[in-house]
Amino acid sequence: MGPTASRPRATRRRLTTPYSGAPGCLPDGGPLPDGPTPDLEVVERLARDAEPGLTSMGSGRYFGFVIGGTLPSALAADWLVSAWDQNAGLLLPTPAAAVIEETAGGWVRELLGLPDAASFAFVTGCQMAHTTALAVARDTVLDRAGWSVGERGLQGGPALRIVTGDKRHVTVDRALRLLGVGADQVRLVPATVRGACWPGFSRACSPRRTARPSSARRRGR
Ligand SMILES: Cc1ncc(COP(=O)(O)O)c(C=O)c1O
Repeated sequence: MGPTASRPRATRRRLTTPYSGAPGCLPDGGPLPDGPTPDLEVVERLARDAEPGLTSMGSGRYFGFVIGGTLPSALAADWLVSAWDQNAGLLLPTPAAAVIEETAGGWVRELLGLPDAASFAFVTGCQMAHTTALAVARDTVLDRAGWSVGERGLQGGPALRIVTGDKRHVTVDRALRLLGVGADQVRLVPATVRGACWPGFSRACSPRRTARPSSARRRGR
């Protein structure tokens, strides 16, 4: 059985497109309770009230955004993670989590053909992946210019210029803002509908070039 065939079956009544109704169409949690609610009641109410707002994201018939379904093994592993309830910050209190992270990271490094010395870290998702990667890029570029961000911070340092495609994901802009890079420092270059940048992308990184190719350059002259 291939991965698609072995995916969990979606419940038919769940939404297969993004929700288009008004927020008020879904039950809300009601007023803040006066006191503690019994455990079982919390879980039962959550399951009952959330059901109309669940989408069948794991189904091949889900037509909203580009959101992948999971595989049964990945879903089961996710359940295990919640059931184990480990605060996996350090090796000392959570050795199993640390070993799993080291193993998975090492495998990814091997798959990508990266050197053994390459470090890795797992992040929460796309937003933190962009933030982390751009933080490393920012610090490296400034370090090469003789400015250590760790020691001197950002203020007063060399100006940064970011070159990116005009179809970049919204999380790139957000990551840049978090990293102290303003919109004026971002130079956009045209990208195809698939997000690929035009062949002169690397030339746009040169300080003497403008990001937008001239019509002569677009015609290949
Ligand atoms: C609008 C928006 N914000 C944030 C994210 C990133 O989410 P996450 O960091 O949880 O992967 C996405 C992912 O596609 C998104 O579309």
